[in-house]
Amino acid sequence: MNISEFKKNGHMIIDWIADYFENIEKYPVKSKSSPGEVISKLPACAPDRAEKFEKIFGDFEKIIMPGITHWQSPSFFAYFPANNSFPSILGELLSSALGAQCMSWATSPAAAELEEAVMKQLAKIIGLPESFCGVIEDTASTSTLCAALSAREKYSDYSINSEGFGPENKFTAYCSGQAHSSIEKAVKIAGIGKNRLRLIGCDKNYAMMPSEIFAVAAIGTTGSTAIDPLRAIGRICKKYGIWLHVDAAYAGSALVLPEMRYMINGVEYADSFVFNPHKWLFTNFDCSAYFVKDKAALIKTFEILPEYLKTSEKSAVNNYRDWGIQLGRRFRSLKLWFVLRSFGVSGLRKIIKKHIELAQYFAEKLSAENGFEIMAPHPLSVVCFRFKPRAGISQEKIDAFNAGLLEKLNSSGKLYLSHTKLGKDFVIRMAIGQTGTEKKHVKAALDTIIKTAKSMSK
Ligand SMILES: Cc1ncc(COP(=O)(O)O)c(C=O)c1O
Repeated sequence: MNISEFKKNGHMIIDWIADYFENIEKYPVKSKSSPGEVISKLPACAPDRAEKFEKIFGDFEKIIMPGITHWQSPSFFAYFPANNSFPSILGELLSSALGAQCMSWATSPAAAELEEAVMKQLAKIIGLPESFCGVIEDTASTSTLCAALSAREKYSDYSINSEGFGPENKFTAYCSGQAHSSIEKAVKIAGIGKNRLRLIGCDKNYAMMPSEIFAVAAIGTTGSTAIDPLRAIGRICKKYGIWLHVDAAYAGSALVLPEMRYMINGVEYADSFVFNPHKWLFTNFDCSAYFVKDKAALIKTFEILPEYLKTSEKSAVNNYRDWGIQLGRRFRSLKLWFVLRSFGVSGLRKIIKKHIELAQYFAEKLSAENGFEIMAPHPLSVVCFRFKPRAGISQEKIDAFNAGLLEKLNSSGKLYLSHTKLGKDFVIRMAIGQTGTEKKHVKAALDTIIKTAKSMSK
C-alpha cells in the first residue's frame, strides 16, 4: 500500500467507523457465530501474492464482522464495560502511526513525560493522595502481579530476585472469596503459591470481613461490585506490616465523582492501587492505571540494565521499562490524554453519574415487578437479579430457569447480559457503562427482560 492508497483507504475506514457507530444498534449485540464458523472461512496459508485492500476489507466485513460481539453497543450490559470514545480511537490511531516503542525516556521523551503528567492528573481526578505515583500497564492483572512481586521483594529484602526462593521464604496472601481471579493468578506467578492464598470471609453484602487478615482489598468486586472496608483492612495491614493492594479495576472510574470517594476512605493505608480506564473511562483497551506509594520498591523490583539499554540522561527521568514487567511499551498515554481533554473532568463525571443513576432506575423498576429479586446491593452501575417463576420452587429450578432466561435474552440479539454466582445463587448481571447508553436503552432492556421472563414462566 503506497501513500496515496493509504490516504484513500484511511479515509474510507474512518467513514466506515463513523457509520458503524451510527448503525451499531442494528447489529445483534452478542455475535451469533458458532464455534469454528469463522476459521472455516479462512485459508490455511497466507497468500503468496499481495492482495488488493478492497478484497481484504471485503473479507473483514463478510467473515470477521459476523463473529464480532459489539462491546460498544449501548445495549451491551455483560461483564464490565470496555468502553471507548472517538477521542480515544483517534489517540490510538496516532499512537499506532507513530509506532513509538516507549521503553525508556530516550526512546520517546514526549511519551515518558506525557505518561507522567497524565498519571498525575488522573490521580487528582480520582482523589488519590499525592503520595501515589502512577504508571500505565496493559491490564489490572499485570498491575496486580506487579504489586505481588513488589511486595514479595520488599518483604524478602529483594533476596528472591537475586537468590530465588529458599525454604525460609514462605508468604501468605489474603483477599476475599469475591476477589477477582487475577489475584490468584498473581499469587501463583509470584511464587507465593495458590495454596497460600487465604480467602477471607465475606459479610452478607459480599464484602470482606475486616476481623480477619488480608492483603488485597476489592473496591467493586467483579460479581456484585461489593466494596471492601478499606480503612478497617488498612489498619490491620499496618499493624501486621502487610502490603495492601487495592483492586478497583472497574469501580475506580466512579471516583471521578466526589460523592463516590467514600469507597476509598482509608486509601492512605494502601501501598498500591489499580483501576482500568479501559473499563469505564471511555479509553479503549488496553489502559490500566497502576499507582504505588513506594516508587523505589517498584523500580528495585523490576529494574534491569544491560549495556544495550544504558542511556546518557543526566537529570532524573522515568524509564518506564523499570516500572513493570514488559520491556517494550506502547504509547498508551496519548489516548488517555485525548480523553481527559476532550471530555473534561465535568464531562467524565456527567456520564459516570448517568450510568449509576440508570442502574438505580433499573433496580427500582425491576424490583417492582412480580417475581423479580434484586440479589445484592448496587452502589455503582451493576445490578444482580433473578426471576423466581413461582413460590416454593427449588433452588436448582430457580437457577436453571435463570440460566435459560439469560440464554434466551442473549440469543435475541437485542441485548447482552452475563451472570455470576452469589453464594449458591445463579444471578444475572446488568452492567451499565457503555459510552452511548441512554435511558431508552435501559428501558428497552427492562421491557425485554420482563416480557421474556414472564412468557417463559407461563
Ligand atoms: C475487580 C477486577 N479486577 C481485575 C480484573 C482484571 O482486569 P484486566 O482484564 O484488566 O486484567 C477485573 C476484570 O473484569 C475485575 O473485575
